[in-house]
Amino acid sequence: MCGIVGYIGPRSAQDVVISGLRRLEYRGYDSAGIAVGHDGVLEARKKSGKISCLDTHLADDPLPASHQGIGHTRWATHGGPSDTNAHPHLSQSGRVALVHNGIIENFATLRSELEAEGVRFVSETDTEAAAQLLGYLVDAGAPLAEAMRSVAARLDGAFTLVAIDAHDPDRVVAARRNSPLVVGVGQGENFLGSDVAAFLEFTRDAIELGQDQVVEITRESVEITNLDGTPAGDVTPYHVDWDIAAAEKGGFDWFMRKEIHEQPRAVADTLLGRYAASGELVLDEVRISPEELRRIDKIVIVACGTAFYAGMVAKYAIEHWTRVPCEVEIASEFRYRDPIIDPMTLVVTISQSGETADTLMAIRHAREQHAKVIAICNTNGATIPRESDAVIYTHAGPERGVASTKGFLTQVVACYLLGLYLAQVRGMKYRDEIAAVMDELSSMPEKIQRVLDDSQQVLDLAGELKDEHSFLFLGRHVGYPVSLEGALKLKEIAYKHAEGFPAGELKHGPIALVEQGLPVFVVVPPRGRDQLHDKVISNIQEVRARGARTIVIVEDGDDEVLPYGDVVIRHPRVSTLLQPLVATVPLQLFACELAARLGHDVDQPRNLAKSVTVE
Ligand code: G6P
Repeated sequence: MCGIVGYIGPRSAQDVVISGLRRLEYRGYDSAGIAVGHDGVLEARKKSGKISCLDTHLADDPLPASHQGIGHTRWATHGGPSDTNAHPHLSQSGRVALVHNGIIENFATLRSELEAEGVRFVSETDTEAAAQLLGYLVDAGAPLAEAMRSVAARLDGAFTLVAIDAHDPDRVVAARRNSPLVVGVGQGENFLGSDVAAFLEFTRDAIELGQDQVVEITRESVEITNLDGTPAGDVTPYHVDWDIAAAEKGGFDWFMRKEIHEQPRAVADTLLGRYAASGELVLDEVRISPEELRRIDKIVIVACGTAFYAGMVAKYAIEHWTRVPCEVEIASEFRYRDPIIDPMTLVVTISQSGETADTLMAIRHAREQHAKVIAICNTNGATIPRESDAVIYTHAGPERGVASTKGFLTQVVACYLLGLYLAQVRGMKYRDEIAAVMDELSSMPEKIQRVLDDSQQVLDLAGELKDEHSFLFLGRHVGYPVSLEGALKLKEIAYKHAEGFPAGELKHGPIALVEQGLPVFVVVPPRGRDQLHDKVISNIQEVRARGARTIVIVEDGDDEVLPYGDVVIRHPRVSTLLQPLVATVPLQLFACELAARLGHDVDQPRNLAKSVTVE
């Protein structure tokens, strides 16, 4: 989820690009870079670390004056954060520079094709394949825009690409698919940005580039074409009224709300590039051999907070698919109980930040016992993935809200990918069985979007219940960790007393808490788990009979529950194991809205930190 800027016009390209990058730093901040054209030559400066590191580098090694430039602030996906992997990437001849946001699924094929033609690659990124291919075509005589159309047509995956050609100082060219790009339309100058925040201080007129379109900007013109070169249809600019702070949040009031709404995209990005045409699952960096994975006799998932609940969800799927016993453990408890782990144990750690000290210490302990460790992490190059034997990145982009949302959904998806991978390697699932789950997973972004589109009811409910003091959340099977996560969200940002319980456990104690009017959320399993479904309906009746106000989360078409739900929140039909991906979303929205209505700082709640680096 990197940030991209492009500029052509009378101002200093460096000034415009760097100020745009600063506005986009919320999109990624592990490295940054800029390239400008000057006298037929491209000059690039790039540095790992935040934009301030690039500033220092530019002060030491200034760029020549230029009016044509591109820049990038990175959230690493392929290739860790380093100076070499930072963008822009230059073609071998140095004539073309390119920045990229997204994931190019077929980069390995393109890379070997180009290497066979004698092109030498210098980085570990997927992006460089696009830069080298673009350079190859331009060197062969294609104008930049035409070459960009050919490159875009060759790529699979998600991308925004922005490029300049040293021999064409009057133009910046870009393309997009499944990744954002906005054109800023100025007077005698034009801009490109991942979002309008990049250029809002210079112009408020913008054009959103459509899917599979290429744009060429010069000082005086904006020309948009489809990949076959035909002119795009309607390209009337719209006017942006947002201030810069609102623009960074995509017009939402809080980063948390924006991140909840980003989940369809984030889940799609987690899935991107995982499923090869051959039907094999592909994971990021698995430095554990299939033989070693076949010898594993126990899996232990270790994590904290929301990541721990993602692990609890994953246990159901991993055990079901692999038939390998799977435990889930709070990281801060793990090493102190002298856990039974050995070289046959696979430890899976889940961490959005990749820096949580409790989780890190658990990894170190596990590795001392010679267990193999796989990290599921959102932050490329963080300490946890660095200290693990293998890593699956969630590719969700930076999460700014302290309360994790897209982190959770993408962690569940990444754990499921791991579960399917283990099942594949261990011969527990046929290819067609894996394909069926992957098909359903790939339909989830659209289903999550439907939950978001229908969220008004949940927002109104938050308004109604904002003065309640206590809330219960109930669920069974994967609905149980979902209810724990629903309660955690409410505690974290709304400061409400909230508890999640397994619905069947209520009668063994917590039901004594139920009194007249107590709001009780219940995650109702899909009817595919018939017994479970009926049991949860009985549990709803138990609390309702004692005066609870029941808010039930059910799949579309489930009417059996209607007589017992005071409020019925529906989600699209999905199979049981995938229900957390839709059922969690209303609970996130409920907590976010309730906290916002109470006037709390939703993104930075009291007493909490996004990344906890002490034990
Ligand atoms: C902190 C955050 C939680 C997060 C937990 C684990 O406590 O406030 O939102 O779930 O850390 O963080 P991690 O980065 O390891 O997923």
